[in-house]
Amino acid sequence: MAGQTILVTGGAGFIGTHTVVELLKEGFKVSIIDNLDNSVTEAVDRVKEVVGPQLSKNLEFNLGDLRNKDDLEKLFSRTRFDAVIHFAGLKAVGESVANPRRYFDNNLVGTINLYEVMAKYNCKKMVFSSSATVYGQPEKIPCVEDFNLMAMNPYGRTKLFLEEIARDIHKAEPEWSIILLRYFNPVGAHESGKLGEDPKGIPNNLMPYIQQVAVGRLPELNVYGHDYPTKDGSAVRDYIHVMDLADGHVAALRKIFATKDIGCIAYNLGTGCGTSVLAMVTAFEKASGKKIPIKLCPRRPGDATAVYASTEKAERELGWKAKYGVEEMCRDQWKWASNNPWGYQSKPEK
Ligand code: NAD
Ligand code: UFG
Repeated sequence: MAGQTILVTGGAGFIGTHTVVELLKEGFKVSIIDNLDNSVTEAVDRVKEVVGPQLSKNLEFNLGDLRNKDDLEKLFSRTRFDAVIHFAGLKAVGESVANPRRYFDNNLVGTINLYEVMAKYNCKKMVFSSSATVYGQPEKIPCVEDFNLMAMNPYGRTKLFLEEIARDIHKAEPEWSIILLRYFNPVGAHESGKLGEDPKGIPNNLMPYIQQVAVGRLPELNVYGHDYPTKDGSAVRDYIHVMDLADGHVAALRKIFATKDIGCIAYNLGTGCGTSVLAMVTAFEKASGKKIPIKLCPRRPGDATAVYASTEKAERELGWKAKYGVEEMCRDQWKWASNNPWGYQSKPEK
């Protein structure tokens, strides 16, 4: 596989940067396209720092927006891509409820443009970032890939539509190979402490929020829901180390290159283990040595009680299994946070 060229959309973002490190280490050439809507070029510089000068020669960054077909044309007319990993998208659930048009425009139009340009240049291998959000409020757990799918909000609807679009494209043009990776809750950071999640504004998700409390940027964590029918009353999720997720993409590429007629197929990327909000707080306190003050609050609307993955299909067919547990996720996230309390930026002046 070494030497193949992969286009990584959204490669400057959280999951993208960690995946690009693994792709370069595996010998791929990588071209990123990102409009820096939710990322900074410093993140790409850090990727280069992590992989070193030799492998950095195989990485190229292109500032561009998937909604602008010309940006894609420019790339594809210059380089022959063997496959695309498509991370680029907006992902904040609350923002998608307030501004659905922005989500439909960015996530749907951007992806449709990408398919069109890929088809034109005969690049028909795609690994797409889907999400456990497509399981909605699952009636049963663990979530198995053939469950009925459901969207709970406009963001979730973009993932559901994009899965359906992928299935339709494959039905009409069977030469496409498309892997839909349904991520559960990505957390943690690169073990070097140089790469990690750096959300703009107040974080929506649990772990970046905890991290900002630990470094003193936020005063306390609101725990949304303490009356769920779970062991400690808080909601349960399947947290997965971002480096395991990165390896999942390498496994997906291996599968796509090795299998003829793979079709359009979905895989869960999770650990199969559920952890409660309060258990995550305790694990982070242990890893960081910091006390995380909490405030017990009502449930967040639309949240499910417990969600975790069935991992059998990915294990069986991709030969991939998550290696890391909650302890390592918190350890690496704390290393990132303590080295970079303000993310990729320096502390803003008051
Ligand atoms: P992220 O915001 O850190 O990265 C996404 C990147 O895409 C950003 O760098 C952003 O600037 C870029 N981008 C957005 N729209 C673009 C456009 N139109 N053109 C070019 N670049 C664009 O997010 P992430 O956490 O790395 O997530 C990556 C993908 O995984 C997303 O599609 C997201 O929906 C999906 N996902 C994430 C999670 C999670 O909790 N992080 C869970 C499930 C699925
Ligand atoms: N939570 C808090 N306090 C916070 C933030 C979150 O108690 O400040 C709780 C939530 O109520 C939930 C749990 O922590 O019970 C996890 O919440 P996240 O927002 O971190 O993650 P979700 O499971 O709600 O959703 C995330 C992404 C979705 C994606 C899903 C599965 O936001 O887009 O993971 O991948 F679909």
